[in-house]
Amino acid sequence: MSLLSVRGIVKEFPGVRALDGVDLDVEPGEVHCLLGQNGAGKSTLIKVLSGAHSPDAGELSWNGERVELGSPVDALRLGIATMYQELDLVPGLSVADNIFLGHERARFGFTRIAQAREEAARLMARLGHPGIRPSTEVGKLSAAGQQLVSMARALAHDARLLVMDEPTAALAGEEVDNLFRIVGELTADGVAVVYISHRLEELRRIGHRVTVLKDGRTVGTGLDARTTPTADLVALMAGRKVETVFGPRHDGHARPETALEVANLTRAGEFEDVSFTVHAGEVVGIAGLVGSGRSELVETIFGARKADRGTVTVRGKPLGPGVRAAVRAGIGLAPEERKSQGLLLDLPVVHNVTLASLGRYAKLGFTERARELDDAGASLRRLDLRPADPRRIVRTLSGGNQQKAVLARWLVRGCRVLLLDEPTRGVDVGARAELYRLIDELAATGVAIVLVSSEIPEVLGLSDRVLVLREGRVLADRRSAGLTETEVLDVILEGSAA
Ligand SMILES: Nc1ncnc2c1ncn2[C@@H]1O[C@H](COP(=O)(O)OP(=O)(O)OP(=O)(O)O)[C@@H](O)[C@H]1O
Ligand SMILES: [Mg+2]
Repeated sequence: MSLLSVRGIVKEFPGVRALDGVDLDVEPGEVHCLLGQNGAGKSTLIKVLSGAHSPDAGELSWNGERVELGSPVDALRLGIATMYQELDLVPGLSVADNIFLGHERARFGFTRIAQAREEAARLMARLGHPGIRPSTEVGKLSAAGQQLVSMARALAHDARLLVMDEPTAALAGEEVDNLFRIVGELTADGVAVVYISHRLEELRRIGHRVTVLKDGRTVGTGLDARTTPTADLVALMAGRKVETVFGPRHDGHARPETALEVANLTRAGEFEDVSFTVHAGEVVGIAGLVGSGRSELVETIFGARKADRGTVTVRGKPLGPGVRAAVRAGIGLAPEERKSQGLLLDLPVVHNVTLASLGRYAKLGFTERARELDDAGASLRRLDLRPADPRRIVRTLSGGNQQKAVLARWLVRGCRVLLLDEPTRGVDVGARAELYRLIDELAATGVAIVLVSSEIPEVLGLSDRVLVLREGRVLADRRSAGLTETEVLDVILEGSAA
């Protein structure tokens, strides 16, 4: 008898049948991976499992008994805990409050705040981050820090089934290892895990079985996560045979003229004395752990954070303070946290794409010239937006499709210097290959690109040069040709310049 059995689940939203008859069986102690392209219905399915959406048809059984999940509390009572793709933490509350919000023990068990804090500290230590204090306000943590809090919250429930929707999207190597260690401990105790990721190598590492969704239907289930050939998985996801799974490949288009020059840029506590230049047509990758100052650095170059010291020069002209000056000088930033920094969730995709600038930083109006609308449509088609309707409200798009909308904006705008912070996060294999090609094409037209990514093969494959940042300092600035993943990792982890 399966722990959880899903039969014929259907879920419709206005204009979209997100789930169209999904079947799935989850056994105790297994890591069951869900695969599928952006918009295939993975997150919608897990929202049905967590009681957040009620299905229009189909049934769920738990230990062989038919169940109805009217709300997330029902699911938690059964023993199903969920880590959502879009974090649902309360930024103004502390780490401990977020972990125990709505928790049974918050009502009955914890008589004192101190007890909740102790338990929260224990969970953060188990996750390998004793440094994240229970009293810290969640809004002050980085994206990775928040992801860890969300994980701690799921662990706090002693669930029998843990559902994780792209948990590693915001994490770098070390944190991923921690997460996988915990998944191993849980499954050894008989806890089942439903795991969603676009990174096939993760499925190989921790997965037992795989179910593939396409257009809201189960197209393959019970497949062996270790031995099923990648080509077969990709073919199931895409619904056709895909000749090659493209990796990043970059030709090298650097021109003699300098596009961006960063000199001694410093923000106390974040990064110090960072200096580098990027030529027109050059792609410079920035590698480093989460917390090494990578995002803070690109946001400072973009004028969204104020530098304590140092200068940014674009095509020989010193850049004034603020985002407007940066945008005027031709700098674009696709930020790491698309939800809080990149998108206006209640506007249609097309307006997000044609926005003159980032909503949070500079309040500019949007232009609706027909040409721009056409360009938006073209960029979105290129990135394979699904559903392919630019009039849809961004909030109703799947996570990967929201990411495509952020990227499309800067493709339309045409920048001279493009700062990309984790651009492929949550983007499926096919769209990712297209994105790699686009980055290469932009470089070929002379755009200078700074690429922050936690995936070292991606950084090495796309960049002409790699900077390694560790604790806010540049420890290496090397040509990527000939550099290996291990060499980069050595610098990231040990700090020994290779
Ligand atoms: N609240 C909503 N209202 C309208 N449509 C929605 C809503 N939530 C999801 N959808 C649509 O349902 C479909 C499935 O979305 P879902 O988020 O489940 O995809 P996914 O497989 O998780 O994709 P990704 O890999 O990008 O995260 C998409 O077409 C999406 O636009
Ligand atoms: Mg999703």
